Amino acid sequence: KKILIINGPNLNRLGKREPDLYGSSSLNDLEEMLRNEASGFDMELDFFQANVEGAIIDRLHQAESDAAAVIINPGAFTHYSYAIRDAIASIHIPVLEVHISNVHAREEFRSTSVTAPVCAGQISGLGFESYTAGLYYFARRLTNE
Ligand code: DQA
Repeated sequence: KKILIINGPNLNRLGKREPDLYGSSSLNDLEEMLRNEASGFDMELDFFQANVEGAIIDRLHQAESDAAAVIINPGAFTHYSYAIRDAIASIHIPVLEVHISNVHAREEFRSTSVTAPVCAGQISGLGFESYTAGLYYFARRLTNE
């Protein structure tokens, strides 16, 4: 079973970007950690990162035919992209929203997610472990399907 991990805008800057909020490890480090984690389950991972809204939308559409589930960190698009929300709602595979920082403990605009209501749920504030928790969720959910 293949899980697609999508990282949105500015997440290619992980490690360099506001390390007090997002940590000092890179996107590569994150992907490597998740690959290690997934090898313990019977799961294959696919990674995608884009800074462009339309590229994320196209990848979500494609996911319906090449993934069993999606873990997405939409970055700042979380707070205002109705187009990404509609793309998530349009596909028939489960999508889980994750955030590295606790979006509910920061600026007020970050506590609104327009994408979370069409996702299976939202995991926020656990650092990179937000993604790992998502992997555990899908490992269990997909074997029961
Ligand atoms: C983020 C939180 C967003 O508010 C922010 O715009 C990001 C990263 C997170 O993972 O904590 O780019 O999604």
